[in-house]
Amino acid sequence: MSDARPSTSSLPGPRGLPFVGNTISFAREPLAFLEAIREYGDLARYEAFGREFVVVSRPDLVEAVLVSRSDEFWRGSFEHELGEGVGIEGVFFSEGEQWRRQRLLLQNAFTPVRIESYAEVMVDETVREVASWPEGGVIDVNERLSALTLGALTRSLFALPLEGDRADRVRRWVDAMGAYLEADFFGPGAVLPSWFPRRTEREYERATADVEALVGDLLTERRESDAEGDDLLSLLATAEYPDGTRPSADEISDQLLTFLLAGHETTATALTYACWFLAADDEIRERLEREVEAVCGDRDPTFADLPELTVAEAVGREALRLYPPLPFLHREPREPTSLDGVRVAPGTTIQLNMYGIHRDERWWAAPDSFRPERWLDDADRPEYASFPFGGGPRHCIGMRFAMTELKLSLATIARRVRFDRVSTSLDPSIEVSLDPGTVEMRVRRP
Ligand code: HEM
Repeated sequence: MSDARPSTSSLPGPRGLPFVGNTISFAREPLAFLEAIREYGDLARYEAFGREFVVVSRPDLVEAVLVSRSDEFWRGSFEHELGEGVGIEGVFFSEGEQWRRQRLLLQNAFTPVRIESYAEVMVDETVREVASWPEGGVIDVNERLSALTLGALTRSLFALPLEGDRADRVRRWVDAMGAYLEADFFGPGAVLPSWFPRRTEREYERATADVEALVGDLLTERRESDAEGDDLLSLLATAEYPDGTRPSADEISDQLLTFLLAGHETTATALTYACWFLAADDEIRERLEREVEAVCGDRDPTFADLPELTVAEAVGREALRLYPPLPFLHREPREPTSLDGVRVAPGTTIQLNMYGIHRDERWWAAPDSFRPERWLDDADRPEYASFPFGGGPRHCIGMRFAMTELKLSLATIARRVRFDRVSTSLDPSIEVSLDPGTVEMRVRRP
């Protein structure tokens, strides 16, 4: 019997150009594209990057894909093209049994007890970083907060200070990857044939090889030292799976690359947007400062203060709503399936429109405004109206780590400095995360 349900080819969506589909429109203004596509409905379709995308712009459908029906979907071939360059054997890209055992192992580095032990390092790194900012001087907040979160990540999760040349190598790699993604993967270069030489790709490959060598050195050093830590580096260096096998050298290297990348740029981006908004909103900045003073008095915040830092949390969540570091997620059905009564074939890339849902006025009043207060009252909205950390079994493993860092760093910064905007606007682009570009602000010490 034939299936009478419509297929994705019947879905509405923007018509693209011959051969290249909507690649150019997406590449030029990806965020505007994701907002505009909502006009076609909660399920829309477009072609770009040589494939068919089905865009999901409704929270209950996001829940179905990520949570209740997660077994039906995998990360998909579109994202796997990316993974070839960064940690394809790591937990972000692995699937099935390999993913399950990796996730179980790695979760040991993210238990509440472990996060508590990282909190002091996060505050300490923030204090150190803020102390280096000149009074009255102009800094690129995005760049400085990336340095801060990289330092906090490696000192806490890897129990290792990564400084000087080593930190620069990681930063160069992240920048090279961002430039490649912006220009050639999600950018106009994606319409060029694959044999066409791409400068950004070559530089990204060089930088990746360099960071792989660095990761190899770190592991050797850890194995040669007698340190028996319970940090992630030691965990991987000594890991044994329940069946007695050990992760291969490639897997360990990919795992470390995954955490170096996923674990600092995303949080830095969120912190940067939060500081940018606070600089233009005296009322909420003062409310945050009053909260920190009431909770901490004349000391810096600690892990124990977290439940009371509700304004700091609201500021962080609102920044993550307006500028989610990963503004869209992808999945592909393993078998023919359906979504909202529409047949979806394997090979179709389902794009979960996080950016569009986070700014949809059906769930958010004044969706484009920065209003942290909305997180302080019990507004009735669907659970997946905001999902910056994804959802279901593959939700962000670093979510608790990131929220702890976001709140503690914001509170520590609020005790010491205020910012005045020097850059007049933001120019976000899709790089490793939703990169705000150069964000120049003047530092004032009240
Ligand atoms: C504000 C900061 C962060 C945001 C917004 C964020 C966002 C996300 C999202 C949306 C996913 C799910 C992707 C998907 O389902 O397709 C994810 C997965 C992941 N994140 Fe994060 N992340 C952040 C911080 C971190 C940190 C601090 C770490 C590690 C220290 C981390 C490590 C990972 C890993 C390893 C995965 C893959 C998990 C899996 O597939 O099992 N992230 N993140």
